[in-house]
Amino acid sequence: MELDWKNLGFGFRPTDYNVKCYYRDGKWGELEVSSSQYLNIHISATCLHYGQEAFEGMKAYMGKDGKIRIFRWQENAKRMKSSAEGIKLAVVPDDLFHEAIVKAVRLNKKYVPPYGTGASLYIRPLLLGTGPEIGVKPAKEYVFMVFVMPVGPYFKEGFKPVSIMICRDFDRAAPRGTGNIKVGGNYAASLASLEKAHADGYGTALYLDAREKKYIDEAGPANFFGIKDNTYVTPESRSILPSITNKSLQDLARDMGLKVEKRKVPVEELAEFEEAGACGTAAVISPIGKIVDPETNTIYQISKDGNPGPLSTKLYQRLIDIQYGDAPDKFGWIEIVD
Ligand code: PLP
Ligand code: COI
Repeated sequence: MELDWKNLGFGFRPTDYNVKCYYRDGKWGELEVSSSQYLNIHISATCLHYGQEAFEGMKAYMGKDGKIRIFRWQENAKRMKSSAEGIKLAVVPDDLFHEAIVKAVRLNKKYVPPYGTGASLYIRPLLLGTGPEIGVKPAKEYVFMVFVMPVGPYFKEGFKPVSIMICRDFDRAAPRGTGNIKVGGNYAASLASLEKAHADGYGTALYLDAREKKYIDEAGPANFFGIKDNTYVTPESRSILPSITNKSLQDLARDMGLKVEKRKVPVEELAEFEEAGACGTAAVISPIGKIVDPETNTIYQISKDGNPGPLSTKLYQRLIDIQYGDAPDKFGWIEIVD
């Protein structure tokens, strides 16, 4: 098998095996291995009708030393638990989550992109309500599964500034809705605005707070950060997904001597940022070049020379050095999979 590792892009690619586990009669069963990419489920499964499903996104990285590293899986397990609690799915215990991701990675070792290609193995844990209901209520049966695929950068630009568009005619999540958990409904709600942003030539949409449309929420499937006056600024909001990448970048920023502020970020403050980026597992850091507000016809030109800013570049490098094992794991974020 020879893949063009350097030009993978971010898309579905089949691998050899996936793992799954069923929840029936109030308990989880044994982990099963499958090489089918199909799932046989009941036509009245709650995931199909009422969106009772949650997922995660994480990555495994091949180091120069030939070791495979998984980044902060405990945080993904914790977030999947909070997603499950939020929409009444059966909770996946940490040890089952861990066993499933490690097994899925081990079984598909040959798909972990080689060191130096910039690619990684994307891990997709998925939790579905499979029991049949037609009234709106939680299922009694669930399936938890994990599949993986080699991926390249989420934004085709890679580590180059993207242009993004402020979205004012759609909200991705309600003020007290499900924006803070990783459930499929949020992504369905974002599709129309993302398609519009792409059709207009932008990398993604920048969502504002749904109540007042005054503050920045997040950037498509990634959190937003801005940097000014030696300070890393990122929005505090009840309707954004708590990003593990963002949390890690905050630690790295502090470690680099930057101040970190997590607070409401008014749209007008975009004019003050020296650098900005979209961050997430898939996006890593995607530097933001300019942000356009179509309603007020404002262009916030963040990158003046078309290049990523120096602090974003340093943060990016520090993060991927830890993930690929090129720098010591001083925060204890890595687990090696043998
Ligand atoms: N925000 C949204 C809406 C996302 O889908 C993701 C991706 O998981 C993120 C932010 C980034 O989160 P993380 O860094 O944990 O991948
Ligand atoms: C991620 O960054 O892992 C995501 O889940 C984003 C996206 C592909 C939904």
